[in-house]
Amino acid sequence: MYDEIAREVVRRCRILATCSDEPGCTTRTFLSDSMHAVHAHISRWMRAAGMSVEIDAVGNIRGVYGGTSGNARRLLIGSHLDTVPCAGAFDGVLGVVMGIALVESLRDRRLPVAVEVVGFSEEEGVRFGIPFIGSRALVGSVDAPLLAAKDGSGMSVAQAIGKFGLDVSRVAEARVSPNAVGFLEFHIEQGPILDQLNQPLAVVERIVGRTYVDVTFIGAAGHAGTTPMHARRDGVTGAAEWIGRVEAYARESDALVATTGRIEAEPGAANVIAGRCRLSLDVRHGDDAARIGAVHQLRAWAHDIVTKRGLTLEWSPRFEHAAVAMDSRLVAGLKHAVERSGMKARLMSSGAGHDAMILAGHMPVAMLFMRTPGGLSHHPDEAVRESDVALALAVGANFLDALD
Ligand code: GLV
Ligand code: MN
Ligand code: MN
Repeated sequence: MYDEIAREVVRRCRILATCSDEPGCTTRTFLSDSMHAVHAHISRWMRAAGMSVEIDAVGNIRGVYGGTSGNARRLLIGSHLDTVPCAGAFDGVLGVVMGIALVESLRDRRLPVAVEVVGFSEEEGVRFGIPFIGSRALVGSVDAPLLAAKDGSGMSVAQAIGKFGLDVSRVAEARVSPNAVGFLEFHIEQGPILDQLNQPLAVVERIVGRTYVDVTFIGAAGHAGTTPMHARRDGVTGAAEWIGRVEAYARESDALVATTGRIEAEPGAANVIAGRCRLSLDVRHGDDAARIGAVHQLRAWAHDIVTKRGLTLEWSPRFEHAAVAMDSRLVAGLKHAVERSGMKARLMSSGAGHDAMILAGHMPVAMLFMRTPGGLSHHPDEAVRESDVALALAVGANFLDALD
């Protein structure tokens, strides 16, 4: 029954993937120019589905479909519209497009709740090194340090908001009403578990906690041809020794993942010893004490390495979030909706971060995962099966029906 709609959902995601800051690749960061084109497509689809559309002061696009009464409480459905560099077409975007499709398939039927579909402007943390700017605005935690954070070109979050044509003095108005019914996020799993189990869907019960730190190994730049090996204070080789330890430690630790995904050497020339090496550390675990203990250990090793090599260390925390449990009532409602669609409701944890974890402290939240073929995500070949999208839409429709 949802096959046609699922086909259209996937087609729309592929259209949005063409809105990019670089040719030949899908790259869209917080309020970059290509977000204007995304907003144009989404507002057209939202309006056609009967929603009123606004873009709030941090660039979240918000479509509201009224309920049976004018003051009906809101159910939020959404995900993010920004991407990692050279991304796939579905991470985030799929959850927004599916929210619109679900409203569209109500065909003017009104529910006792209003439905607000939110396309968050930022979740990945790529441009400013701080994730979740979009969902933070809904919970009122976009503060002065966040607005002052700078991107690689020296532009602040506040300036980026102004450049996009929005009014930073209105950020507080983006806050969501505290009596929202809840937030529902449809998302691809982004990992291999459902694909390996040959299962289309899972209800998320928990999102793991995360620590994200910028780490800089500081030595001294020098001539690559004339400085003897014993006299060097090389930022890159210090960092390299530590990176090896990070990987080995995470491999040996149960359920811990640690990633050093971004690395920059300065000054960055083949014939210059690197005076500085700056890299990112991303550590995740379902158990907060295990994650915090791991970060402590990794930091101690970084100190040992800089001491041994005559370097210094800068350790700048960028983001930290505890593991988050989904709301038990909404999880039960989603499980019931899965079972009504004729499937067994499987529960799983999310290793990826999601907007739901930011909203969780402020309203009940729940997530439905769709299988990711090959487990491939944050990659241009990321995919989703149309038949899984159709099943997830049917679950979403059952979930909405149960509110009726
Ligand atoms: C978001 O994609 C994350 O880093 O988990
Ligand atoms: Mn992502
Ligand atoms: Mn995502």
